[in-house]
Amino acid sequence: MKDAAATTSGQTIYLDDYTAPGWLVEEVHLTFRLAPEATRVLSKVRFVPNPDAPQGQFYLHGEQLSLIGASIDGTPVSPEVTEDGLTCDVPSGAFTWEAEVEIAPAKNFALEGLYMSNGMYCTQCEAEGFRKITYYPDRPDVMGVFTVRIEGEAPVKLSNGNPVREGEGWAEWHDPWPKPAYLFALVAGDLVNHPDSFTTRSGKDVALNIWVRPGDEGKCAFGMEALKKSMKWDEDVYGREYDLDIFNIVAVDDFNMGAMENKGLNIFNSSCVLASPETSTDANFERIEAIIAHEYFHNWTGNRITCRDWFQLCLKEGLTVYRDSQFTSDMRSAPVKRISDVIDLRARQFREDNGPLAHPVRPESFQEINNFYTATVYEKGAEVIGMLKRLVGDEAYAKALDLYFTRHDGQACTIEDWLAVFEESTGRDLSQFKRWYSQAGTPRLHVSESWADGTFTLHFRQETPATPGQPDKAPQVLPIAVGLIGPNGDEVQETTLLEMTESEQSFSFTGLGARPVPSILREFSAPVILHRESDNAERAFLLAHDTDPYCRWEAGRTLAKQALMRMITDNAEPDQAYLGALATLLSDETLDPAFRALAMALPSEDDLAQTLFETGHVPDPQRIWEKRQEMRDAMADAMPDLLAGLFAAHQVPGTYQPDAAPAAARALANSALALLSRRDGGERARAQFAKADNMTQELAALSCLLSIDAGEEELKTFYDQWHDDRLVMDKWFSLQVAYAPPAQVAATAERLATHSDFDMKNPNRFRATFGALTMTPAGFHHASGAGYRLLADWLIKLDPLNPQTTARMCTAFQTWTRYDADRQGMIRAELERMAAQPKLSRDTSEMVSRILA
Ligand code: PHE
Ligand code: ZN
Repeated sequence: MKDAAATTSGQTIYLDDYTAPGWLVEEVHLTFRLAPEATRVLSKVRFVPNPDAPQGQFYLHGEQLSLIGASIDGTPVSPEVTEDGLTCDVPSGAFTWEAEVEIAPAKNFALEGLYMSNGMYCTQCEAEGFRKITYYPDRPDVMGVFTVRIEGEAPVKLSNGNPVREGEGWAEWHDPWPKPAYLFALVAGDLVNHPDSFTTRSGKDVALNIWVRPGDEGKCAFGMEALKKSMKWDEDVYGREYDLDIFNIVAVDDFNMGAMENKGLNIFNSSCVLASPETSTDANFERIEAIIAHEYFHNWTGNRITCRDWFQLCLKEGLTVYRDSQFTSDMRSAPVKRISDVIDLRARQFREDNGPLAHPVRPESFQEINNFYTATVYEKGAEVIGMLKRLVGDEAYAKALDLYFTRHDGQACTIEDWLAVFEESTGRDLSQFKRWYSQAGTPRLHVSESWADGTFTLHFRQETPATPGQPDKAPQVLPIAVGLIGPNGDEVQETTLLEMTESEQSFSFTGLGARPVPSILREFSAPVILHRESDNAERAFLLAHDTDPYCRWEAGRTLAKQALMRMITDNAEPDQAYLGALATLLSDETLDPAFRALAMALPSEDDLAQTLFETGHVPDPQRIWEKRQEMRDAMADAMPDLLAGLFAAHQVPGTYQPDAAPAAARALANSALALLSRRDGGERARAQFAKADNMTQELAALSCLLSIDAGEEELKTFYDQWHDDRLVMDKWFSLQVAYAPPAQVAATAERLATHSDFDMKNPNRFRATFGALTMTPAGFHHASGAGYRLLADWLIKLDPLNPQTTARMCTAFQTWTRYDADRQGMIRAELERMAAQPKLSRDTSEMVSRILA
């Protein structure tokens, strides 16, 4: 009985064990009688035997449900109920199952299933939350047509699909599109809407709404515009139209993740949809636009075509992340988006790939699927699609996608289905490419060069380090985009794609007049770590001349990284050559200010720690922090006039607009301000704080002050101004932790957790405080061990309430084997203390044991 095993604590589920469901669902009727402590859920489900699979024992998932009664075809039955579900004898043909259960949404702090947030009822069913609502075959390959009746006092009652009827105290919804249970949603509460509409390209009018708590109406306009842009973009670029009469978005304050693509009723963490100039930063605006797009795009990649099982999660997530990144590139600056994505990929996915939690884009086993909503599945999953598109070309990609949509509409699919449409529409054999889905780990790509008689040759060698459960790796297909630059700075070979398939492979360019400088891995054409011996002069040359913005940025980053590494390992002084090259780049008025702001950011402390570790050093987080500070001081000293000039020249006059151009100017001005503040005593930042009329300027100024140990006054002002705004208060919490001196980081988080505005049940607030702790390496890894202890204390407290958020935050410990014996010992002790908790959740216990393994 596979399904039962799937939810038993400590059991491992394997992709290879997949079996088709014995019973399919035709129709589902649900009635909710809402009450905070005792909601009744009545279900009526039409089951039919699956003609393509043996029926086996009839089994329904169900957790934390009180079964009031059940019947089959109207005759009461007494199913055998366990902690995870129930079995029952059923007729051999089609039948109607009815059940009534009771649940307590007001006591649900796991935020999975039906729960309450600020008096509002809402649901979260992905991945396996529907089983906490009623007994049901809670697996994505069982798709049914849902009709939902909601009874209760709440003035607004929403579910999937289209509204059918409503009366005093009830409302009915019908979703004509068959869907798996994880896409079910219900919301009920005292909500107000921001309405709009969209006409699809075939002329259908769609009502759009963003539903929020009274008081938040003024923060919906931006999200609504983003939604309309997304709808238009998906029509223009992928030919996909919306397919219901209404599309609802709801903002909830308590939510474990960013947002959820429930059919016709997307539910958002309020931080990912509510926006206003006064309360949101430029970065918030950009992220909100991207997440709205992401969830909307799921309507086709996820909902119309869903996953056969949870091992196929990247089928919908990788593709949808890829689509939302294309959207952002089209709406804003494509090079800046690409560089930002690379930074994010290295910070989160490479980090994961290099440690004990490494897993393939399509995992082959899990204990708790919630633990696999990872950077690998999402971001590496998107990179894999980007490589596929690059290999087959834009036209073939479009053709393959059309085939995917027509062939698989309405189905629950696999990665094999996905690759088959590419193989069939291009004639390509993708069996080696498929390793990107099955092999974990980041390939290392080593390159050397040779030059003779006008021929320039690049010699590549790839190797992927062992990862848990995968000691040996086979070579993968690497699309390597390369250009060549002549000695005078002109491009002598425009971007060409090399397709590497072997462990070692060479590629030659002939007929060259002089030895060129290669620009390798343009646009970051494959998610690999490139190892190339080259000197600083050559990097500075690329920084000055490369036509590919990513490679140009990367040249600068490598210079900075080398300089920092020498400061850390050899006590070197800040590299004047780097500072000079940076100054030249920053003065180049032809360059996008956003690009220049990115070029100004130093490699992160975590990135340096990982690189030190890989080059045979034991990283000292305190020293890394100090040397980065020293470099920032050197930057401030090396170019004071340039920085002051950039700051002055990029002030944006007039009313705040969140668009890319003014945001880019603010980014550059604020990067300059951060350095200037190190030398002006915070004078400029204080002035900016005082006159700021938008959160970007206000928060940047406050951060500058806190980072030079000033800003106490401003912090109070900020609190007084914003203490009624939850989302801004999250910033107030995290800022103080992130900018505390390393020795004070843990104490600051600890103190904030006793603040009357701290609420551990709210994931945003918990993350604002303790997420900031984990993302401040010198503080988190302080030699006292206080950071480790504090995090473990709070994860132990949170686990019984919210396992999902607890497990996710355990990833803070995934890099532990990089550090010295003392730190390793302290971390191990904390992980073991967590593992020893008597009722540790399946989520957290899986994470802790994988990290310790
Ligand atoms: N499917 C959601 C998304 O990527 C993420 C999510 C997963 C949300 C699980 C909630 C729970 O858009
Ligand atoms: Zn998604």
